[in-house]
Amino acid sequence: MTAGTPDAGHGGPLGRPAPGPAGGPAVYVQDLCKSFRVFRHRPGALGAVRSLVDRSSHEVRAVDGVSFTIQRGEMVGCVGPNGAGKSTTIKMLTGILHPSAGRVEVLGLSPQRRRKEVARHIGVVFGQRTQLWWDLPLIESLDLLRYVYRVPEATFERNLATFRQLLDLDLFLSTPVRQLSLGQRMRGDLAAALLHDPEILYLDEPTIGLDVVAKHRIRDFLRRINRERGVTVLLTTHDMADVEQLCSRLLIIDQGKVLYDGGLAEIRDRLGRERTLVVDLAEDGGALEGPLSVPHACEVRADGPRRWLRFSRDDTTAADLITAVASRYRLRDLTIEEPEIEAIVRRIYEAGLDSSSPAGSQGSTIE
Ligand SMILES: Nc1ncnc2c1ncn2[C@@H]1O[C@H](COP(=O)(O)OP(=O)(O)OP(=O)(O)O)[C@@H](O)[C@H]1O
Ligand SMILES: [Mg+2]
Repeated sequence: MTAGTPDAGHGGPLGRPAPGPAGGPAVYVQDLCKSFRVFRHRPGALGAVRSLVDRSSHEVRAVDGVSFTIQRGEMVGCVGPNGAGKSTTIKMLTGILHPSAGRVEVLGLSPQRRRKEVARHIGVVFGQRTQLWWDLPLIESLDLLRYVYRVPEATFERNLATFRQLLDLDLFLSTPVRQLSLGQRMRGDLAAALLHDPEILYLDEPTIGLDVVAKHRIRDFLRRINRERGVTVLLTTHDMADVEQLCSRLLIIDQGKVLYDGGLAEIRDRLGRERTLVVDLAEDGGALEGPLSVPHACEVRADGPRRWLRFSRDDTTAADLITAVASRYRLRDLTIEEPEIEAIVRRIYEAGLDSSSPAGSQGSTIE
């Protein structure tokens, strides 16, 4: 699905964004680099007094040769440890920062050279910062943005009515932004970022600090604007549930480099070789002493009649294992637990993609 190509969602309550420059991907990034020169201050002879002579600097390679392409209508999640380069990458995609090297194109335009034009087609939410006016009631901030983005009145009215309903804004539309809770402020920021019908939405940690209900509401909203409007979404997060619930594609960035770019199902399949079969024995727990004995599986936990059997895709299939368990023990119920994506990603952060691969697998990247 592309932003300019109607699909089943056409005619939904969200309408469609104005099409940007035709053809090509939404975002194209090739060998992108960004270095910062960071000055270290050392105390001078007078302790607290710092002198210029004492200043030394070093270079931080925040983004170090990143390449990826995002097609129109995609929803991509970007994760990585603190300081990985996620926000710096987003800032280059908006035009706020200039790359040290490499190429960025947003809808075929350079965000640095054509910043104003690109701004008409993108919406941005930085979870840690608001683009709303702190002292103004939310509605006045939205009204001001309408002039900044030159949003036609009919579009503004239509979008405001939609966002008031979907994001439940009415309760706090007249409240100054500084008095809003974090979740309310985030909903206001989302409305603000989408007022001008952008084709692309960048979200830098949109669910940071939110409670489970607020996260759910925001995820629901993002799913709708992606499905019904075809808005391309790139989000960064530390919450893997955001990625699991919203994105089919995952970018893992660490130390300024792309470690993984691919499907969620694919990484789970490739690196999450181990699954767990949870069985409830029909016998009462006391009747069966000791761990279950089944080929190609290892009992890793027991709680009365409930047993957890870990097994690897390399050794057996779930179907064969279930047959083997059922032929030895009488079962009341069973479930299969898939590997948690969070655990897989944590292992990649800690040890890199190679070390997370099962023995015998090849290749250092899955792209
Ligand atoms: N303006 C700046 N000046 C100097 N160094 C910077 C600047 N902005 C970012 N950095 C450095 O670049 C690196 C990447 O930072 P960035 O904010 O992109 O990371 P991140 O992946 O967004 O991390 P987090 O998950 O903590 O938000 C870090 O080492 C950071 O200290
Ligand atoms: Mg960041």
